[in-house]
Amino acid sequence: MSHLTGLAPSDLPSELRFLQYPSSKESTYLPAIRQLISNDLSEPYSICVYRYFLYQWGDLCFMALDADDKLIGVVISKLEAHRGGPMRGYIAMLAVREEYRGKGIATRLVRMAIDIMIERDADEIALETEVTNTAAMKLYERLGFLRSKRLHRYYLNGNSAFRFVLYIKESAATLRYEDYDPELPPSA
Ligand SMILES: CC(C)(COP(=O)(O)OP(=O)(O)OC[C@H]1O[C@@H](n2cnc3c(N)ncnc32)[C@H](O)[C@@H]1OP(=O)(O)O)[C@@H](O)C(=O)NCCC(=O)NCCS
Repeated sequence: MSHLTGLAPSDLPSELRFLQYPSSKESTYLPAIRQLISNDLSEPYSICVYRYFLYQWGDLCFMALDADDKLIGVVISKLEAHRGGPMRGYIAMLAVREEYRGKGIATRLVRMAIDIMIERDADEIALETEVTNTAAMKLYERLGFLRSKRLHRYYLNGNSAFRFVLYIKESAATLRYEDYDPELPPSA
């Protein structure tokens, strides 16, 4: 089962190129990735957190670069067995430079991450986003993610989060059904 909808819009800026993070070029790209993400996400991630993801799952990180190789957007994710059960993909960080937002860039980056996780037999893909982050919630719901839980005061800044899950396989949806909070109807 796949809930994938929301194809990337055709008005993506033509000067952009989308590519997998090349691990051999950490010194070129990691500083720009850290800067872009630290500008936009409330969580203060240390270099160790970036390396945790990029050393093990660099091939699940995708970047949008402009014609001058400037970083415009990035998604960082991982894929592993969740508590010995389903193969769970996890989208850890996503950001697009402010002046480029609303053009479908994040949608394209997330689709690239989803596609490679499906190729690698993911059962489901999860993520969290702040309850106030309308743009991110709209984007993920358009891609078929379902709101599964509200996590009270999840972030260091005291804000709460919603966990979203995209069920790739029917079996994962059935197995994880108990994750649903009955107060929250599925929202896709
Ligand atoms: C969330 C974010 C990555 C989206 O990037 P983007 O490239 O603008 O995303 P897209 O253009 O692919 O899609 C954004 C969707 O949100 C909608 N949107 C954008 N701003 C919005 C707002 N303030 N209110 C409601 N919807 C909004 C867009 O209309 C679009 O939906 P649509 O295609 O159905 O119209 C970007 O806003 C960002 O970097 N924010 C800061 C970091 C962040 O919050 N990351 C996500 C953490 S989970």
